[in-house]
Amino acid sequence: MCGIIGYTGQRRAIPLLLQALKRLEYRGYDSAGIAIVEKGTLQVFRKKGKIKELEQELEGKEWVTSFGIGHTRWATHGIPSDHNAHPHCDCQKTIALVHNGIIENYKSLKEMLLREGHVFSSDTDTEVIAHLLEGEGSPKERLLRTVSLLEGSFALCILFTEEEGVLYGVRKSSPLILGVGEGEYFLSSDIPAFLEYTRSAVLLDDGEVVRVDRSGFTVFDFQGQAKDKKPITIPWDPVSAEKGGFKHFMLKEIHEEPRVFEDTLAGRIDFHKQTVALEELENLPFSSVRRVTIVACGTACHAGMLGKIYLETLARLPVAVEYASEFRYQEPLLQDTLVIAISQSGETADTLRAVELAREQGARILSVCNVLGSSLTRISDWVLYTRAGLEISVASTKAFLGQVTVLLLLSLFLGEKRGVLAPERQESLLRELLSLPRKMNQILKEEQSIHEIARQYYRHQNFFYLGRGLLYPLALEGALKLKEISYAYAEGLSAGEMKHGPIALVGPDLVSIVLVGEGERRIKMLGNIEEIRARQGKIIAVASENDTEVKEKVDFFIPIPPTSEFLSPLLAIIPLQLFAYYMALERGCDIDQPRNLAKSVTVE
Ligand code: G6P
Repeated sequence: MCGIIGYTGQRRAIPLLLQALKRLEYRGYDSAGIAIVEKGTLQVFRKKGKIKELEQELEGKEWVTSFGIGHTRWATHGIPSDHNAHPHCDCQKTIALVHNGIIENYKSLKEMLLREGHVFSSDTDTEVIAHLLEGEGSPKERLLRTVSLLEGSFALCILFTEEEGVLYGVRKSSPLILGVGEGEYFLSSDIPAFLEYTRSAVLLDDGEVVRVDRSGFTVFDFQGQAKDKKPITIPWDPVSAEKGGFKHFMLKEIHEEPRVFEDTLAGRIDFHKQTVALEELENLPFSSVRRVTIVACGTACHAGMLGKIYLETLARLPVAVEYASEFRYQEPLLQDTLVIAISQSGETADTLRAVELAREQGARILSVCNVLGSSLTRISDWVLYTRAGLEISVASTKAFLGQVTVLLLLSLFLGEKRGVLAPERQESLLRELLSLPRKMNQILKEEQSIHEIARQYYRHQNFFYLGRGLLYPLALEGALKLKEISYAYAEGLSAGEMKHGPIALVGPDLVSIVLVGEGERRIKMLGNIEEIRARQGKIIAVASENDTEVKEKVDFFIPIPPTSEFLSPLLAIIPLQLFAYYMALERGCDIDQPRNLAKSVTVE
């Protein structure tokens, strides 16, 4: 999705803006641009493609200004091109702005502006804002007047040549954060853009405008009423935003999973009493919760599907899982329902809209989120953070593991509070949890054998991922990872459904990744393996290291250290992520920034 950066301070703006845009690259984009004011004159540079192209365009320019804005664009209105890239300007080139979000009423505004004689140079919805900002009054007055005309979602960063050193930021339904340094300020859609300069930040709320110059900032609402806002300290370490010796962020993030797991558990288990302690949920009215509805998108939704099984089995609560993009257009019955919204970024537009709908219907909201102070956390009644740290690669890996961990803890916690969880079961799961980081590391040590399997199959185009029970959502997630980054076609299936249609596709060209658990479903999975073998399909099995029977029947075997069935997804996910990674590597794909995808999807 689009990324915003604005800077006013003492450093040279151009290198700083370019560096910040690189930090935003992970969100996904198709073009980039910057605007600066040098000796009172506005200079704008916009390029389709990667930031490298923009850098080339700027090579040799000796400008020293310390004031400017920049943007990475992910096209919504108008194709990716130089002229549709941001920043956009007014007719006189005295105003430049960058925008994240969508102006829903831009057509009628554009018609009005065209009738007034404005000349447009792009096909974007954003450009109307620049033209609306022309006219009488101070920049602040013009801004408030303009904002009152806009419908939709918008985070804006604006500069006016008549006020050198002053940036304006506007936030409505799209994130915008003010980084507060010593005599310098950053306005960005994302904290990583300025984290190397300051860890102090003001999280703007919807309906707020900020005016910032080198000496300070003021925040006001859309009516111009001043608001009192204080900076908070961001707990992230800038070093964690670097690749740390790994070839890609995705690989680094997979390797961080044992630590993410430990961090997510930290302080949440009372080993003395053998219970889960979630302080964050102290005032949750346990007895009045009769049902749960989980809303999420993409990978987070797959974590939600695992959460459903955990909550139903351990806490004996009926759970529905809905794609947020579907739920938000339904007429849900939410009486006595706790809505759990899961989101790595906390900014996914569909998830936010689903939560708003749930709130209107009177539901209470518990969010599972990775980003401190994100929009989702601010509209939730309770928040359980995943503590995965900054996730840069577009394909989510460690955040998924954090989400599943939190949902497991929540299920144990609610199971005990509701008096439906046998203490022995709770104790044995908690004991087993402690061994997982070691077992995760054991799997990570075997990554070269997974690379080897990818070398065998990277030319194949069609993949099935088959699982049952807890391993069914994992099959969906494994397939999603492969699609996202390697562009191979992959379908995740409930293995029992294979015979109802998909088996028609099985043949020598199809590779099936079969996730074999234990217990009664294992026998059924052996049946699936036989069915595929009988049709000469290729098979990679992920199964317990002790399962020699499976090992003998398949082309490749990925062993998983034995663990309780409940915890097996937390281990089995790692080889699936690694397989997708090495497939993409062999296929020469842009792993951290796959085509057409965005880290945080802030449009609906
Ligand atoms: C995008 C990302 C996915 C992510 C989904 C939900 O589609 O590419 O990796 O799972 O959004 O994102 P969220 O931030 O809400 O977890």
